[in-house]
Amino acid sequence: MRIGFYQLKPLHGEKEKNLEIIKEVIRKSRAEILVFPELATSGYLVPDREFLEKNSFSVPDSREFEDLLKVVRSTGTVSVIGFPEKFNERFYNSALYILPDGSFGVYRKVHLFYKEKLYFEGGDSVESGIFEYGGFKFGVMICFDWFFPEQVRYLVLKGVNMILHCANLVLPWSQRAMRIYSVINRVFTLTSNRIGEERYKDDVYVFTGKSQIVSPSGKILARANSKSEVLRVKDLDLSESYNKNINEFNNIFEDLKRFYPYKELKDWK
Ligand code: ACM
Repeated sequence: MRIGFYQLKPLHGEKEKNLEIIKEVIRKSRAEILVFPELATSGYLVPDREFLEKNSFSVPDSREFEDLLKVVRSTGTVSVIGFPEKFNERFYNSALYILPDGSFGVYRKVHLFYKEKLYFEGGDSVESGIFEYGGFKFGVMICFDWFFPEQVRYLVLKGVNMILHCANLVLPWSQRAMRIYSVINRVFTLTSNRIGEERYKDDVYVFTGKSQIVSPSGKILARANSKSEVLRVKDLDLSESYNKNINEFNNIFEDLKRFYPYKELKDWK
């Protein structure tokens, strides 16, 4: 399956222009699944509530959603896009996924980072990030969620073959952590990160780029640099993620069954 990321530098506070760029990239990508960074339609820093009023949109009742849906239907590219979501007069740091048959979902970032807590509500459903496509299961996470290995493990125990991680990373370890998560869970991971810098008052954010796709054995299948906007799409055989054996004696899920918190394992075949 052809799966990729678009590493970009969103134009801060320019929702319409960012959406045009995103739609154009979807049109030319020839990907079956394409993942964009966190808050790709708005930029990262939220100076005030007015910024969110201007740069957010609702799903599914908005022109922004309708336009994205049209592009997904016409290209056949499942698109996963980080955006500020307005829902019931509250704002969420969310990722929207739209499938070519018109089905869609929204994952609301569960683990908010730093001053995101001033403006966004936290999500409460890791499961809402799970969707199925082409016979495989995908699990969406957003940026700082990576700090919580429980979230990755939970998605994997739910049968996810590939983690799709929309990010605006500022801490230096995430790309390494995601690679380790691939290895210790035998799943594919994709991190779609942004580049560039944003400043507000005393805060300076330098985003680390280096978007990547990692195989269940930890092989880096695609890796961007930290400076350029870039589209990368790889042809992946996701069935590799069904093999949870490390060697003839160790199967991750068989061994985990000895550890009682993982109740989900009762259902694992
Ligand atoms: C982050 O969660 N955007 C660092």
